[in-house]
Amino acid sequence: MLSGIPLFPEQASTLAPVVDNLYFFILAVTGFFALLVVVLNIYFAIKYRDDTGLKVGAPITGSIPLEIGWSLVPFFVAMAIFVWATVVFFQLVRPPDQTLEVYATGKRWMWRFQHIDGQREINQLHVPVGRAIKVTFTSEDVLHDLYMPVFRVKADAIPGRYSSIWFKPTKVGDYHIFCAEYCGTNHSAMIGQVHVMEPEAYQAWLAGGGLTGSLASRGEQLFQQLACNTCHVADGTGRGPSLAGVFGSQVKLEGGAMVKADETYVRESILTPQRKIVQGYGPIMPTFQGLVSEDNLATLIEYVKTLPAGRAAAGQQASAVPAAGAGAK
Ligand code: CUA
Repeated sequence: MLSGIPLFPEQASTLAPVVDNLYFFILAVTGFFALLVVVLNIYFAIKYRDDTGLKVGAPITGSIPLEIGWSLVPFFVAMAIFVWATVVFFQLVRPPDQTLEVYATGKRWMWRFQHIDGQREINQLHVPVGRAIKVTFTSEDVLHDLYMPVFRVKADAIPGRYSSIWFKPTKVGDYHIFCAEYCGTNHSAMIGQVHVMEPEAYQAWLAGGGLTGSLASRGEQLFQQLACNTCHVADGTGRGPSLAGVFGSQVKLEGGAMVKADETYVRESILTPQRKIVQGYGPIMPTFQGLVSEDNLATLIEYVKTLPAGRAAAGQQASAVPAAGAGAK
């Protein structure tokens, strides 16, 4: 409704109107009360103006109904905003089951994007209209913040861990990507463009890129180069746990704790393998910190995602119990 005012960015995702409606509601509530105070102030100032300098104010003893009123009204207004905002928040942080996955890395001062099919881009992101996209990202150096105003999504890129945003573009066009966290000299130049394309144009773009192999296939090569496959044997007879079907499942750790095998868990297991030891295995895996770049970590994760369940020998796979709705968040 107010999106025609150039003060606000275009609404180009399904989340944009959801976020804006809440924002406009809060704007309306605060605007109303600000106006009320100013208008009453002026009105009373005129009405009770003391020309003579001799008037004496009436004694005020307080009013219970008034006090209850000005306590309860703000309470209900605040609770309405809280409940509404909670509903919006869950929509923002819970991507749908089927999303197109994109990995991104922020570094001073650029954004690198990797598509599942292997395309890589810098400060450019091509996505199809009408598909839910999930961007999983981290930072190679300092805090950055991936911000796409037209989709109303943003999240910090934090060194050493994954963040994610999701959006479903509703309008074809080229839109801004910003870094929204001050990260040094060229922070203001850490910008890019997201290109929302018709599905056919997107397919053509996908096919046109220099094919370096899908992320998963590059991950498979790396998996062998780093000799991960010598310990993580698919049938579970290796010195490390089999990775078949692990992604999306609940993994039982030494000490009995359970952990969901998501992107963050796989990443952590590669970089700080001692932190979470799978039950039944020794703490023998070395760290790969400094040996695998953020971009390559994404390929390894995509490779682990492709490893099918059911290839492990009986008994050895007890550490990876498939969870209900595995793979979906
Ligand atoms: Cu990166 Cu600001």
